[in-house]
Amino acid sequence: MLYFALCFFFLLQIFTTTTTPTTPPPYRATDFILLNCGSSTNSTDSSHRSWDGDERSKYAPPNASTASSALQASSQHSSVNTVPYMTARVFHSQFTYTFPVLTGPKFIRLYFYPNTYSNYNTTQSFFSVSVNNFTLLNNFSAYLNSPSPSNPSFMKEYLINVEENQRIDLTFSPNQNSFAFINGIEIVSVPDKLYFMGNDVQIKFIDQSYYLQDDTVLENLYRLNVGGTNIEIQDDSGMFRAWYQDDDYIFGGDYGFNPHADDVRIHYTPQTPPYSAPEKVYTTSRTMANTSISLEWLFPVDSGFYYLHRFHFCEIQLEITKINHRVFEISIDNQTVDVGVDVIYWTGGTEIPIYKDYITWVPDDGRHGKKDLRLSLFPDLRTHPLYANALLNGLEIFKLSDQSRSLAAANPEPLPVEFDGESGLQPENEKKKKSRKPLVIIGSVIGVIALIIAAMSFLSFRSGTTNPTKSSWIPLSYVSGSTTRTSGSGSSLPSNLCKHFLLDEMKSATNNFNDNFVIGKGGFGNVYKGYIDNGATAVAIKRLNTSSNQGVHEFLTEINMLSKLRHLHLVSLLGYCDENGEMILVYEYMAHGTLREHLYNSENSLLPWKQRLQICIGAAKGLHYLHTSAKHTIIHRDVKSTNILLDEKWVAKVSDFGLSRVGPTGGLHTHVSTVVKGSFGYLDPEYYRRQQLTDKSDVYSFGVVLFEVLCARPPIIPSLPKEKVNLAEWAKLCFKKGTLEQTIIDPSLKDEIAPECLSKYIETALMCLRDRGTERPAMSDVVWSLEFAMQLQEAAEKRDVDVAMDIVGGGFSPLAKPSFPLLWNGGPNSTDHEEMFSGSSEAASRSKSSGFLSASASSSQKMNSGEVFSEILNPAGR
Ligand SMILES: *[C@@H]1O[C@H](CO)[C@@H](O)[C@H](O)[C@H]1NC(C)=O
Ligand SMILES: *[C@@H]1O[C@H](CO)[C@@H](O)[C@H](O)[C@H]1NC(C)=O
Ligand SMILES: *[C@@H]1O[C@H](CO)[C@@H](O)[C@H](O)[C@H]1NC(C)=O
Ligand SMILES: *[C@@H]1O[C@H](CO)[C@@H](O)[C@H](O)[C@H]1NC(C)=O
Ligand SMILES: *[C@@H]1O[C@H](CO)[C@@H](O)[C@H](O)[C@H]1NC(C)=O
Ligand SMILES: *[C@@H]1O[C@H](CO)[C@@H](O)[C@H](O)[C@H]1NC(C)=O
Ligand SMILES: *[C@@H]1O[C@H](CO)[C@@H](O)[C@H](O)[C@H]1NC(C)=O
Repeated sequence: MLYFALCFFFLLQIFTTTTTPTTPPPYRATDFILLNCGSSTNSTDSSHRSWDGDERSKYAPPNASTASSALQASSQHSSVNTVPYMTARVFHSQFTYTFPVLTGPKFIRLYFYPNTYSNYNTTQSFFSVSVNNFTLLNNFSAYLNSPSPSNPSFMKEYLINVEENQRIDLTFSPNQNSFAFINGIEIVSVPDKLYFMGNDVQIKFIDQSYYLQDDTVLENLYRLNVGGTNIEIQDDSGMFRAWYQDDDYIFGGDYGFNPHADDVRIHYTPQTPPYSAPEKVYTTSRTMANTSISLEWLFPVDSGFYYLHRFHFCEIQLEITKINHRVFEISIDNQTVDVGVDVIYWTGGTEIPIYKDYITWVPDDGRHGKKDLRLSLFPDLRTHPLYANALLNGLEIFKLSDQSRSLAAANPEPLPVEFDGESGLQPENEKKKKSRKPLVIIGSVIGVIALIIAAMSFLSFRSGTTNPTKSSWIPLSYVSGSTTRTSGSGSSLPSNLCKHFLLDEMKSATNNFNDNFVIGKGGFGNVYKGYIDNGATAVAIKRLNTSSNQGVHEFLTEINMLSKLRHLHLVSLLGYCDENGEMILVYEYMAHGTLREHLYNSENSLLPWKQRLQICIGAAKGLHYLHTSAKHTIIHRDVKSTNILLDEKWVAKVSDFGLSRVGPTGGLHTHVSTVVKGSFGYLDPEYYRRQQLTDKSDVYSFGVVLFEVLCARPPIIPSLPKEKVNLAEWAKLCFKKGTLEQTIIDPSLKDEIAPECLSKYIETALMCLRDRGTERPAMSDVVWSLEFAMQLQEAAEKRDVDVAMDIVGGGFSPLAKPSFPLLWNGGPNSTDHEEMFSGSSEAASRSKSSGFLSASASSSQKMNSGEVFSEILNPAGR
């Protein structure tokens, strides 16, 4: 029975594939050139495309025959196509083909077959290729770049935007004492807005935006029909793009996939026109199977370039029909690039395709060598979607030309001689095209049902282990910095600074780690609230999973570093317990939780402006201490509003040094190179680009916190219109437009902030967010500016009181009208506010706390004491 079904399916496949060419493709190229280099006759390739020989071609220079030789390959691999690979043009000196074409974007495809052509053994060939003054290849060896010894031919695809009155000049330049060669050249025009969408269209770059300029050249590295089979060039939408199956790039998972369903009709839209990708791309997809917690792929790419990733999505699964059914997160190289991805939300329904672009930067290894780029899709459970799952239908990855207008990268290391199989490094692999997936056909229904059950069980599994909702009182992500220097003697800890607790004490403090005492959870383990000193002192007890990778040595090293940090505005590590294989950290307990839960999305009453400002000053002092007071600069790396905790007197304390790194020791080094860590919405873009960590990365994140405090909104709200999603960018944009005061400030603060205080505060926050770290202020300057803002606020309040007294006294004082420009004039009827706070009903029902005054007074007394401030007066060590 099954056998018949299979046969029938294959017949159907053959039938459909042989009949499809009769329907015209959705796009017809305006420029289409196929040049079979080294050939004197016209010929047809295996896809029935007709190639012109380049002998006496109008595209070649008149002296072509003296500058080059037309030659035949001396042997042929069975998997290599005759056209265009069996002939080559070999260049002894610089040689330029000139193609007159229309304005607009074009694909340029170069075909190489490393072989021996007469006396020219291409193992000895090194050359450069440029197009319109862009370097495509430099010191390039086709032999070393060949995908596999058994199938050495390959194609490289570039995308260039040809401007008015331009042509395509394609130049081959052999290295000294070497030669260049090419087997075939293809030029195909591309619809105007398909890849270059205009210089002012934003593309996501982590949580920032990137503008892909028209004068960039792109190189396509991967084009995949995710979860499907190979799509031949003649089945593309008119640009002859081949789409390959993604199996070779899947990393570590046994993933589900949706089979190609013939009854699915893809409804293209003006936003996603039919030529975006063929229907077959959108009718197959990969989703998560029962055992996986994410979808992951690994792609070898050249380091030191920006990459454009185009994700193709289309919901075709029966069960997924509504918004919030499937919501996921996209991360590239462990860095979140998008959250709250909901395809139905984007498209408005099922069977409607859409593609989204993201840019990432892959840091250079010093020679543009190969690196694995890791792409991950995770369920995003924050909005409690119906299914914990992720989806991808198609993927394109392009490398972007760099500032020196080059795409050139190092040659890969030579292939080992004994290596004889398929390397699978490059998608151009003829063998793969033949492979079919009979399994795909079997019971799409069964598959889908299993998947849903799986998804639901996964959902319950996830909600049981991680709970990112409530407050994270204490470091939730304990990751060792591991470059920490211990002073001489290994793990001997300063017992005067950091107490060694007994396991029994920990057990009695938490009622034997009773779940009722849990106040926070994370991948590292649980955080408990407990009482020590016979119930006299409340503490936060973090119990690390012994199964986590955290070694005991790193654990002790970390304690050694943290226990030496003592400051009013840092959460103190009180002690630890390492008995019986346990790894437990004991911190002071912070009664009022995180700063964030007093700003938005919580039931707490809102903090008044002066108290918010006081908290910012405190946190800034804590960071300043980290940066300057220890022997080595300590960079926090994860400054955010959930890592600023508030004690029972509302004193702000910086917490979570889990990601901290010890900074440079001085001298010429002003940064440390690290793998980028940090939180979405707070990450310093310069740090991400250059992978170089400085204390100014903390300053940037702190600038985001300052706006969070002022605007009472999260740093990222994915559902807002593009320009408002990222708070830092939105604030900068509003400032440029001069609308900052009117549009984004928390309406509940409207009557509280003195305009001159607001100006100073905004100026400080914007300086923290400057693009270049060197232009950002040091934390000491930030502390100073914020304290100044506080003085301005207090002066204004005092003046207001005086004015009121004057009025009461019947005198008309000229002070009744403020002499400074009135910055604040936004109102609750401003539309921006409505959008910003829609969805958080708390915003409407905000009320002011009454009992704050005494608390803030006591803490501000402490803050203003010279003891705290004196740190700033001693800038040594910076
Ligand atoms: C090859 O085809 C081109 C048009 O595509 C034509 O101009 C040329 O004469 C043909 N050459 C030969 C040798 O047939
Ligand atoms: C061929 O002509 C080009 C200019 O048209 C020149 O730069 C090049 O040196 C010439 N090559 C030979 C081998 O004569
Ligand atoms: C080409 O050169 C390589 C390395 O020098 C050598 O192993 C190979 O045999 C040569 N091929 C031919 C056909 O001479
Ligand atoms: C390439 O650069 C040269 C000199 O810089 C210039 O004359 C030429 O017009 C450029 N060509 C293109 C296609 O931009
Ligand atoms: C789902 O999980 C079960 C049990 O763990 C396993 O036997 C089965 O092969 C899995 N199915 C898929 C599609 O991974
Ligand atoms: C991403 O995380 C994985 C697992 O934690 C790690 O092995 C890998 O090196 C990380 N990659 C990058 C680029 O940070
Ligand atoms: C050219 O590439 C080869 C092979 O990767 C390398 O050994 C050589 O050093 C490179 N030459 C230059 C000038 O970069």
